[in-house]
Amino acid sequence: MIITPKLSVLVSIVSIYFACISFALEQSYFDKRTSILKHTKVTYRKKPKRSNVPDEYYDKPRPYKHNFKRLINEPDLCSRHERLLLLYIVRSFHTNFGRREILREIFQDIPHDPYSKNIIVRHVFIFGKTKNSTLESLIQNEGNEYRDIIQEDFMESYTNISLKTIMAWKWSVEFCGNADYVMVMNDELFVDQYKLVPYLHYQLLQSTRKDRFVACY
Ligand SMILES: *[C@@H]1O[C@H](CO)[C@@H](O)[C@H](O)[C@H]1NC(C)=O
Ligand SMILES: *[C@@H]1O[C@H](CO)[C@@H](O)[C@H](O)[C@H]1NC(C)=O
Repeated sequence: MIITPKLSVLVSIVSIYFACISFALEQSYFDKRTSILKHTKVTYRKKPKRSNVPDEYYDKPRPYKHNFKRLINEPDLCSRHERLLLLYIVRSFHTNFGRREILREIFQDIPHDPYSKNIIVRHVFIFGKTKNSTLESLIQNEGNEYRDIIQEDFMESYTNISLKTIMAWKWSVEFCGNADYVMVMNDELFVDQYKLVPYLHYQLLQSTRKDRFVACY
């Protein structure tokens, strides 16, 4: 084909144009997952026949309006990776520094068998706030050092643990949609990553499920 100079300019403009469009359409896995999760329809369970739970919990579910300000955040923790296998979200308390040190070591120790190649596992510790300013500045320093602390603006207390659970799920949807699995746990729990990581990876490879699931223990 003979392309006259004018036509060749046009051809290259057209191809630049198409390159721009395809670049815009090429969303990252993180963006794709985040937008799917944000638009997921929540469906509520019908009351099982022999349940003792009051009807109103099934008939009029009122999702908690959880909009506490984030005091400490790590917005890029997951988005800097293409995809993660597992995100641990650990409910911890300010004074449990020793437990967090042990968990950090455990989380970094990923089995390197052929099954688990290129696997990325990340963790965050989540907190409310306390009235003790010493503890508050300790947690800020810890966040600056390890970049694995998330804190929201509600009072830390044992009875507010449900707020922490909601905080965990909300954070995982907003900032870590590219994780295949999310595990919400307390800081007194130990994890055998040499069993868990290959197991989850194997489940993922086998899985034909399109939906996400929640497993509770
Ligand atoms: C605040 O926390 C620190 C560190 O755990 C503790 O030594 C101090 O007694 C606490 N202060 C108050 C007022 O509870
Ligand atoms: C739980 O957090 C809310 C919001 O900060 C606070 O008003 C409430 O007092 C907390 N509950 C307890 C038991 O500390």
